[in-house]
Parts: sequence; C-alpha cells; structure tokens
Amino acid sequence: MPELQLAIPTLFGLEGLAADELRRLGLSGVQAENGRVLCAAAPADIARVNLNLRTGERVLIVLGRFFAGDFDALFEGVRALPWEDFIPRDGAFPVKGHSLNSALHSVPACQSIIKKAVAARLGEKYGLQTLPETGALHQIQFSLMKDEVTIMLDTSGPGLHKRGYRAVGVAAPLRETLAAAMVMLSRYRGKDPFCDPFCGSGTIAIEAALIALNRAPGLDRSFSAQKWRWLPGQTWLDAADEAMDKEFQGSYDIWGGDIDPAAVAIARDNAVKAGVEDYVRFEVADARTFHRDEPYGRIVTNPPYGERIMEKQEAEVLYRAFGSAVRALPAGWKVSVLSSHTEFERTFGRTADKRRKLYNGMLKCDLFQYTDRNHKP
Ligand SMILES: C[S@@+](CC[C@H](N)C(=O)[O-])C[C@H]1O[C@@H](n2cnc3c(N)ncnc32)[C@H](O)[C@@H]1O
Repeated sequence: MPELQLAIPTLFGLEGLAADELRRLGLSGVQAENGRVLCAAAPADIARVNLNLRTGERVLIVLGRFFAGDFDALFEGVRALPWEDFIPRDGAFPVKGHSLNSALHSVPACQSIIKKAVAARLGEKYGLQTLPETGALHQIQFSLMKDEVTIMLDTSGPGLHKRGYRAVGVAAPLRETLAAAMVMLSRYRGKDPFCDPFCGSGTIAIEAALIALNRAPGLDRSFSAQKWRWLPGQTWLDAADEAMDKEFQGSYDIWGGDIDPAAVAIARDNAVKAGVEDYVRFEVADARTFHRDEPYGRIVTNPPYGERIMEKQEAEVLYRAFGSAVRALPAGWKVSVLSSHTEFERTFGRTADKRRKLYNGMLKCDLFQYTDRNHKP
C-alpha cells in the first residue's frame, strides 16, 4: 500500500494543537486547515494516530479530492477511486457527509450518488450484481466545499473523544478532546500540583492524569479499522506496545473538587474506569474557599457559565468569590478558566494575560489564562 493521506477533523481552535501532536508522533506533511489537519502516513500510522491523539476527533483516510459541479462529475470522480483496495467484497459502506457553498447542496442526493458509484466499482471488480454488505464497517465520509469534493474513509468509528471512561447521562460534561486541549494549553507537564475546583464528572483532571502519565488515550477502546483485512492486526499490537513503552511511572498531585457530591461520585467512578484512580483525588469542596499553600501550581477549570439571565447573575457572584480565592494563592499558580460568560474577566476581577477562542460544542467560549501574577488588573 503506498503512502496515504490522513484528515483529522478537530474542534475549532484545536487545529494547531492536533498538528503539534501529529508532528510529535513523527508524521510528515502536517498541515492545519480550518477545522481539520492533514498529514501523510503509512498504513501503520493509522493505529498509532488513533491510539495516541488527544485533541483530534477522528482519523479519516483521504481517498480522493476533485471538483464536481454536477452529479455526473461526482459519480465519475468517485467511481475512479480504487475502492477495491480498501473495501472487501462483503464490506459495509454507508455514506455520510456535508456540503457547503457548492452547486451540489443536497446531502441525501450526494450520499446516494456516491453510494451508487462505489457499488458500481466494487460490483464490477468482484463480479457481483448485489454487494452483501454483511462484513466490517467501512464508513465513507464526503465533504463538499466550494464544489471541491473530498472522499474519505473513517478509521475510528466512535469519535476519539470517546475514550471509554465516561459514564453516560452526566449534565454538561466537557468533551474529552477539549479538556485535554485545555490541559495542554496550560503547559502542565506533571510536575506542579494540578487542580480543577469545578470538576463535575472529572474530565479535566482525568485528562491531566493521562497527560502526566504520557498514557495513550485510546488504549482502552476499539476502532473501526481494527476489523479491516488490508490493515494487519499486528499494526494495532505494535502501536499499543509502542505507546505503553512510552508511559511514565511517577507520583502526581492531581485534584478535582465539586460542590455536588453526586458529581464527585461520578468523577471517582470515571477515574477508576480510566485506570487513573491512584493519581487523581476527587473531593466535595466549595471553589469559593479554594486554597493551597504550595508555591506553584496549575488550575484548569470549567465553572458554570450561567446561560440564562438569573443563572448569569449567580455565575457572576460565583466568579467574584472564586477570583478572590485565586488572588489569595501563592504567586506561582497559573490559572486557566473556560467560560462563555461575556463578563467573566470583570467579575473574576482581572483581565486575562491570554485569551483563546474555543468551542464547547456549539457554544463559543474563551479560555482565560492567567500566567503572570505580577500583571495588574
Ligand atoms: C460546567 S460543570 C463542569 C463540568 C466538567 N468539566 C465535566 O467535564 O464534567 C460545572 C460544575 O461546577 C460545580 N459547581 C457549582 N458551584 C460550585 C462551587 N461553588 N464550588 C465547586 N463546584 C461548584 C457544579 O456542580 C458543576 O459540576
């Protein structure tokens, strides 16, 4: 199999971090675009990237990129791709995708044309009138942007944020990929004490523990491409061995607090599922009285935003009290807070040293970073 091109979709604002991760994994031709990162890869890298990436949403193989202004061009462009190299005679190949600013704007119509074109090619190659599609899933994804079609194959299955440790049905949890990004942006390396005083289900603290341990976030889950015949099973075992060899053994001071005992119970449970219960402590605690004596540390947190008017005022009262608690900490503490609240800095009591736009789902947020405690409000 010749060299492949991978496309890694990311949440908006995380493209640069995902690109850095890919470079650290040794991939070449890494190029960050809006909402995705492209890179060149050998087949074995599919396993390595799926297992190791903290900030990407999934790993797609780019099979082709071409312009299509009408359905004929779409059909012919798709049929010309070497599908038989990727999808076996019994492979299932559903199609999904999106279209933006393109003549072919109907997604269901594009889906059906692409499906027909792949079926025509595979039917001809395998000498079959009807393809059974009873085998492994080979999810096809397309994107149409300004008439340029990108045809891709999804190697991940469920999104990479699904690490396999989080309980279902938790209110307002942070996506694991975003939590990992916040920890990475705080430059936490596992040395200083690390705290999330509004920990909820514990996502930030758990991602911090995985980062401190240098543990690959995908070791406890499976991926679609593990069932693909053209990718040797050994590549997944080799990638897991490589990842496990890179793990650190250390002791870390990682703490999460929440005022809600039910949230703390869920966070503890999630830490056990993630296998980091020996490295993270969760406690019922009020962030308004947060206090630590150590001269250095990191706070990375996601307090309630107060999306409705009344709640908004409550959030402001909370930010004010939390701001006072943070100001009383020794000068070596660096603080990162994710909030969509427009008055965050004013109520917290200080202008951030750095502000970074991030999206929590559809909600536009800022990551307010306080890194220089000598900075005056
Ligand atoms: C947006 S959620 C955090 C979600 C978390 N990042 C996760 O991934 O699950 C905010 C949390 O702050 C907690 N909270 C509200 N007021 C608090 C206070 N005074 N002290 C500590 N926690 C508080 C809530 O119980 C809630 O779990």
